[in-house]
Amino acid sequence: MDLGLKGRVVMITGAGMGIGRETALTFAREGARVGIVDIHGDDAEETAAAIREAGGEAIASRCDLTNEEEVKASVGSILAKYGQINVLVNNAGISKDVTLLKMAEADWDLVMDVNVKGTFHCCRAVLPQMKDRKWGRIINLGSRSMFGNPGQTNYTASKMAIVGFSRALSLEQARNGITVNTVAPGFIETEGIKGLPTYPKLREIALSKNPVGFLGEPRDIANTVAFLASEQARYITGTTVFVTGGRFSS
Ligand SMILES: NC(=O)c1ccc[n+]([C@@H]2O[C@H](COP(=O)([O-])OP(=O)(O)OC[C@H]3O[C@@H](n4cnc5c(N)ncnc54)[C@H](O)[C@@H]3O)[C@@H](O)[C@H]2O)c1
Repeated sequence: MDLGLKGRVVMITGAGMGIGRETALTFAREGARVGIVDIHGDDAEETAAAIREAGGEAIASRCDLTNEEEVKASVGSILAKYGQINVLVNNAGISKDVTLLKMAEADWDLVMDVNVKGTFHCCRAVLPQMKDRKWGRIINLGSRSMFGNPGQTNYTASKMAIVGFSRALSLEQARNGITVNTVAPGFIETEGIKGLPTYPKLREIALSKNPVGFLGEPRDIANTVAFLASEQARYITGTTVFVTGGRFSS
């Protein structure tokens, strides 16, 4: 199936590593031009360089998504280079895991600021020109953890917020040819997760609870995002796609 992504311009946040990086490489292989945005400028540059070395088109931009002016500057740099942004993937996300009574206000604020307000800033910066073209795709990263994980009240709340945000925005933009969906991954083996001291234990638990009996990889998410960004997904909006190997509960 031709996804029709050739020549499209996609902006992907948090694409310096992990799921975002793999998503950027996937879009580039489909012929899209990719704007890589990350708070770690070197990682963003590295992803963009990997795409260019493989013959694709990409530019990198350093940006802290919690800062509206930095988001506007990154969006501006992609628009200056490619003239449009057709697909926005709000992928960047963080967690600060600790039980509620031990949680510092700063842990709450940072998770909400990156995961929710970052998505708010990016959508507002990108939407006007999508609306003018009467075509757009917004894909927001949620999580199976939206159903609740102990030690993740902040992260769970932020991912549930993303689902509500996506549904409301999908209705606002439904007549403008713009779809808005959430992709909710289960446990995905990224380099970041593999580097955690608790990784062996986390892996064991995730594997034992997984109905399909294996763990997902970044490409499982990247392929789902690419499909939702395609012309073929025009009738899918306001929904959440779970890419969890069949696991829902904690
Ligand atoms: N990996 C999983 O198992 C899993 C499961 C469910 C949901 N998710 C979600 O998928 C998304 C990607 O996860 P991942 O595992 O690839 O994460 P990751 O930690 O590997 O990468 C996240 C990227 O976001 C960037 N980032 C963080 N804060 C930023 C900010 N303020 N501004 C700009 N960039 C920032 C980081 O620099 C990093 O490159 C996240 O939204 C995450 O919540 C991941």
